[in-house]
Amino acid sequence: MITLGIESSCDETSIALLDNEKILFNTIYSQMDHSRFGGVVPELASRAHLEKIDRLAQSCFEETGLTPRDIDCIAVTDGPGLAGALLVGISFALGLRSVCNCAMTGVNHLEGHICSALLMHPDIDTPFLALVVSGGHTALYRVDSFDAITCLGETVDDAAGEAFDKVGKMLGFPYPAGRLIEEEAARFTGAEKELPSFTIAKCSQGDLHFSFSGLKTAVKYLLQGKSPEETLALRPALCHAFQRTIAASLAINAKKAAERTGISTIVFVGGVACNGFLRETLKKEFPGTVIIPERNLCTDNAAMIALAGYLRHQRGRLQEPSMSPSRGL
Ligand code: KG4
Ligand code: ZN
Repeated sequence: MITLGIESSCDETSIALLDNEKILFNTIYSQMDHSRFGGVVPELASRAHLEKIDRLAQSCFEETGLTPRDIDCIAVTDGPGLAGALLVGISFALGLRSVCNCAMTGVNHLEGHICSALLMHPDIDTPFLALVVSGGHTALYRVDSFDAITCLGETVDDAAGEAFDKVGKMLGFPYPAGRLIEEEAARFTGAEKELPSFTIAKCSQGDLHFSFSGLKTAVKYLLQGKSPEETLALRPALCHAFQRTIAASLAINAKKAAERTGISTIVFVGGVACNGFLRETLKKEFPGTVIIPERNLCTDNAAMIALAGYLRHQRGRLQEPSMSPSRGL
């Protein structure tokens, strides 16, 4: 079965083709237009999707030798995400379906991220835990089946990726800053006593929830009154301490969720799961099996959406794409 996946929920335009669960093609265009604005500009994102999506689909067919008539199912992200950006992908999917006359389904972006773990490990047994950490979301789920996903905890303010990006901005890094903070943190070669100390927030909403805005504010206060030279000198230690606090917060909640549910497998997905320090911390701290996709499948991509669509097709759970962009899981 050939599934075409389409992802356009934020600032990545991506098209993928799967043969059953196997990736035939997965192309991702990352819009760089936003870096000088310090964050994603929704209108620019929609325009860039519109300019790119057609070319990406064409290259997908050229590279694989397939044609639109070979497609059995189209899977398109239909939320959560930027309304205008989602609409480009959904409109493209609807147009293509009218040519291919194939099956079609809307896919929740977070369901897609969870599926990214199955692209490399199709045999993961349910139930498992899923830690989804990206620029827009930070949440811990219990997955009993793809029709029974329960949120155990989520951020009550900023997503972890958002905290990386905002702290990066304070430190003079362009958007998105996650990878740059990781690289800067790796430059810290000093002693433990030189590290700023940050605390892990406790959430009154429940102890499996997360909070990162206090950490962001702590960085802001630490930098207040510092000259550009002083900020530069402090950067490696600050990035290390910041990253270590995020890692500890994620690992503590993952561990608690395992103890509470008795589930001993966790998948760590989403753009922030690219971070090597976070990957290693979770592997060290989690009392069970940790599955993390390769990095190009952690960030937004259409292969994960195609797989979620393929699995929906197998379960007979296709759904017409919804035009409501703010759907959670
Ligand atoms: O999943 P994703 O591509 O898009 C969303 O659904 O949000 O995640 C993007 C986020 C950005 O906030 C980016 O800074 C972060 O992932 N990110 C990282 C790293 N690579 C990307 N954060 C920390 N360390 C990284 N190496
Ligand atoms: Zn995402």
